[in-house]
Amino acid sequence: MHRPETLALLRTTLFAAIGVSACRSAGVQTTERTAEVPVLAVSISRPSASATLAAEPPHRTDTPGFVSDLLGSHRVHGERCSPLPGPGCREDDDGSEACEMRRGLCSTDDDCPADEACHCEADGTGRCMAASCRSDDDCEVGKGGAHVCAFASISGGCYTRQAFVCRTANDTCVADGDCENGLRCLGDEKGGFHCARIHHCVRGRPLYVEAVPQVAELREGAGWNGARRFDLRALPEADRRALAEKARRAALDEHASIAAFARTIAELMALGAPPDLLFATQKALGEEIRHAQDTFALAVTADATVAVEPGRFPAAVAPFVSADDLPNNLASSVFLGGCLGEAAAALAAQADADATPLPDLRAFYEELAAEETSHAALAWRTLDWLWDVPGVPATIAKTLAAQPDAPLRSALVEPLLAAIAGKRSAAVEERGILKRYDVAADRAGS
Ligand SMILES: [Fe+2]
Ligand SMILES: [Fe+2]
Repeated sequence: MHRPETLALLRTTLFAAIGVSACRSAGVQTTERTAEVPVLAVSISRPSASATLAAEPPHRTDTPGFVSDLLGSHRVHGERCSPLPGPGCREDDDGSEACEMRRGLCSTDDDCPADEACHCEADGTGRCMAASCRSDDDCEVGKGGAHVCAFASISGGCYTRQAFVCRTANDTCVADGDCENGLRCLGDEKGGFHCARIHHCVRGRPLYVEAVPQVAELREGAGWNGARRFDLRALPEADRRALAEKARRAALDEHASIAAFARTIAELMALGAPPDLLFATQKALGEEIRHAQDTFALAVTADATVAVEPGRFPAAVAPFVSADDLPNNLASSVFLGGCLGEAAAALAAQADADATPLPDLRAFYEELAAEETSHAALAWRTLDWLWDVPGVPATIAKTLAAQPDAPLRSALVEPLLAAIAGKRSAAVEERGILKRYDVAADRAGS
């Protein structure tokens, strides 16, 4: 049974943890999207003297191992975090729930795989995180003539994580000021920093190509304006324009979700998925088409001076990953884009519904919230089906451990993953993602 106070707390926690926020403006609330958050790219952490750089990642430099100077915050040697709560889990150990929960925890770098390093959180807990270097000594001489193993933030849209990467002599930029046309000085986990565009945070199920969310180009046209009508006459002009702008961005995301589900169907078939999973995914795909049409209709109703539709979308036919990589790749995108992204979309839509005084908008947002919730539940169900594929639990644990949002991780997602790992029917049966979160909260509090 839902307890209102629990759900309210969970929603608040999720909003904070997943980064959903909302903006109120003269009676209308539309989902605020973090339009400038980083994507799968790395923004080097530097002293605050350079105001053009990306936000400093929330890491500690007051622990032994770090130096902060003009070269940024970098790692001179490994850290020593709190002792592990028990024996560690080998990579190939798919054993107990307790083992699954410890996966990703560490005390020193030696507890982590070779391509990761152990980084201490504020409470001393160590977590393995991606690292192409573990100390400055692992890096060749980079720009500026120094060895720099930099602390950097990486994000796949809404979800920021952290990594250690080397600066290299091939870097084409040092800071954002070296880049033009609104580009930022970003790096990647393979090393090297270059000027690149930062993608906005996608709500709902993104289409990832090499972990970067993709959307179609916009062109003039009205071919995607659905039949849904909105009476927005009570809104002031400025609010309508703001609503139109947000709706255009959201419509592109809804449009991209169509391709994401289409590719998921092909990937599920490649892995031998059962028909009920294909039916459910196809249903979600159809709902995303309607979401896109309704949202484009909302945009043009709010501002009839801008009539746009999605144009070409070559990312929809991007090459699939190899058969060997497919299960883990699919599990990772379902987890990030479905379990988390669709839940974020549902919560944002419900917040919009709660805030608007306009009946048409409220009904639309409530419908969105219900369907995005079912998409999040479908993602958990898909993950449940994938769970027995060797390597998938470790991939998800690694993906989860890389998320810096401790409240989300400890109160919600980890218990759900543990429930899936244990195949507890109460937690894995499809009965709505919010109920799942309720179950998770009960487990977390017990
Ligand atoms: Fe949607
Ligand atoms: Fe969705």
